[in-house]
Amino acid sequence: MLDNNKVLDLLRQVVNPNTTKNIVDSGIMHDYQVREHRVSFTLLLHPSEDNLKMLYLAKAEESIKSVYPEAEVLINFRKEQQAPSTPLPQVKNVIAVASGKGGVGKSTVALNLAISLQQQGFKVGLLDADLYGPSMPTMMGLRGKRPEIRKIADKPKMIPIEQFGIHTISLGFLLEEEQAVVLRGPRLGGIIKQFVYDTVWPDLDYLIMDLPPGTGDIQLTIVQTIPLTGVVIVTTPQQVAVADALKAMNMFLLPNVNVPILGVVENMSWFTPVELPDHKYKLFGEGGGEKLTKLGETVLLGQIPLTMSVREGGDAGLPVASRPDDPAADYFKDMTLQFIQAVNRRNNTQDQTKIVKVS
Ligand SMILES: Nc1ncnc2c1ncn2[C@@H]1O[C@H](COP(=O)(O)OP(=O)(O)OP(=O)(O)O)[C@@H](O)[C@H]1O
Ligand SMILES: [Mg+2]
Repeated sequence: MLDNNKVLDLLRQVVNPNTTKNIVDSGIMHDYQVREHRVSFTLLLHPSEDNLKMLYLAKAEESIKSVYPEAEVLINFRKEQQAPSTPLPQVKNVIAVASGKGGVGKSTVALNLAISLQQQGFKVGLLDADLYGPSMPTMMGLRGKRPEIRKIADKPKMIPIEQFGIHTISLGFLLEEEQAVVLRGPRLGGIIKQFVYDTVWPDLDYLIMDLPPGTGDIQLTIVQTIPLTGVVIVTTPQQVAVADALKAMNMFLLPNVNVPILGVVENMSWFTPVELPDHKYKLFGEGGGEKLTKLGETVLLGQIPLTMSVREGGDAGLPVASRPDDPAADYFKDMTLQFIQAVNRRNNTQDQTKIVKVS
């Protein structure tokens, strides 16, 4: 008769030469059984460890038979499922909307892009990653709303709020408006992670992330948390905006970050008064979007004019893209069609983005 514990001890002499860990204590052994003179178990191997099978078999037999020459050793090998490389496998594309300067219209572009995509028949989510000044509660007409919290596997999870067919989460849904918060690096990162891990995102074609301006802690946490399909850079036509936007763009292009730039949106490109529909007043100069496109070797996804309706829509929680009769909605629709093509091009030609590893 074979002694259960003695056999286990003998199997502790079977060691992975790469990690020097034995097969018993490293946790790769399952379904261990000793029946009369037969020892059987399953070993879970990483796909790259196929070459260890023979070694494990030989060592296990050698070790056990040194004490129990009559023993029979049966090892069943199973390939370990590779851990999903994304925390949100149900989301096809994760898109960040970024800029260098503040106030250029990231949130406006992010929201109207989300709504236009939804109108094209896509399933869309919106993650308000601007923790310093979350805009979405106001822009979507959701001020004072709270997300439903549901216990899933005994952990509380947030359910995104649905508005205009867009599933949205924002820090503005969790904090009182007058709650003046000074959040620092680690706290910020923690909230972004909760927005990813502790939120029940449904199946989505696009998850749009509205970023704060610049290249700070939030941007850093995002590229370390979730693989971004790509980034949309928003700028105004002004030259100072271009210089700042270029810095933001370059952060995503850093070799170890390596997030594709999908294109540039130039916002506030001109102003056309309702009573003079043929006039274009270029209040913020011109050429910024085009220049940035050249510098970043990317494409111009659209130029959005400055209009009363865009501003009013933002303040009133009725974004123009949700009102297709508004002429400004057409600009967002054209931008969105260009955007869809850019994402498809990217997905057809480039590998999935990897998250940045913190060393
Ligand atoms: N094309 C436009 N026409 C008119 N108003 C606009 C336009 N784009 C943005 N705005 C207005 O400009 C203001 C700033 O826009 P928005 O909040 O989208 O910018 P942002 O880049 O997200 O700002 P922040 O850096 O503070 O997050 C808002 O009041 C918005 O309604
Ligand atoms: Mg914003």
